Amino acid sequence: MSVSRSLHGQRVVVMGGSSGIGEATAALLAADGAEVVITGRDQARLDAAVERIGGKTTGHRLDGTDPVRVAEFFASSVEPIDHLVLALSGASGSGPIASLDPADLEVGFAGKFWPFVRTLQGALPRLAAHASVTFVTAASARAAFPGTSGLAAINGALQAMVPPLAVELAPIRINAVSPGVIDTPWWDAIPTEARTELFTGISAATPVGRVGHADEVADVIRLFVGNGFMTGTVIDCTGGANLPTGR
Ligand SMILES: NC(=O)c1ccc[n+]([C@@H]2O[C@H](COP(=O)([O-])OP(=O)(O)OC[C@H]3O[C@@H](n4cnc5c(N)ncnc54)[C@H](OP(=O)(O)O)[C@@H]3O)[C@@H](O)[C@H]2O)c1
Repeated sequence: MSVSRSLHGQRVVVMGGSSGIGEATAALLAADGAEVVITGRDQARLDAAVERIGGKTTGHRLDGTDPVRVAEFFASSVEPIDHLVLALSGASGSGPIASLDPADLEVGFAGKFWPFVRTLQGALPRLAAHASVTFVTAASARAAFPGTSGLAAINGALQAMVPPLAVELAPIRINAVSPGVIDTPWWDAIPTEARTELFTGISAATPVGRVGHADEVADVIRLFVGNGFMTGTVIDCTGGANLPTGR
């Protein structure tokens, strides 16, 4: 059996699909014929993303940190889900360990780790027998960037779950893509000038000489979706920024 190109008749849920990496993924899968449901907390953002993505895409307002609503969302889904992509973002938990507030790290886990775990649990009864599940983690999980030990803990915990889940849930496939710095609205909290300066510095320290685009991460997710021989894998998509320098 070869890598599947057409996704006609396949149903995809992208949690955190109204922006950035999730939206780029939804757009790629919808263009290949999938029926895509994107979720997010903000209705206006969802509506705008559905409009941009087109195809057979619908939006569903859902806060991934609300376990009751997440369970209801999957319980109310009648059709089996062929592919589940977890791309919602948390932003807390970064900073030097000396000043890292444990409460902030807890918020970080509550914003990403627990929503991923609860979403997977809620979705399980609805996943098709040969479904794929993709976690969007972060390069901080396996790199050594100072000030990111909290993010390493959150994303590393998710990445550590991938191999055992792949075996436990087989033939459902579980993979993760681990992005480096990607230019998405996730960075909008930083004022434009400071963000440009930050991206310039990161680009200079990155082998490919730039930050990444959401489509480049979506391409990796598309590979996981279509390639039925991939499971238990974590792929870095970082432009080489996480490669050890031997310092
Ligand atoms: N951008 C990067 O440089 C980068 C690097 C490494 C890893 N990542 C990871 O990649 C993933 C996607 O990030 P991104 O850059 O694409 O971020 P983004 O552009 O900010 O998009 C995040 C998406 O998640 C949704 N979302 C956020 N919190 C949610 C919640 N509690 N419940 C449901 N939906 C929620 C957002 O919609 P609403 O706000 O309307 O809910 C939006 O659709 C994240 O897990 C992030 O940690 C990003």
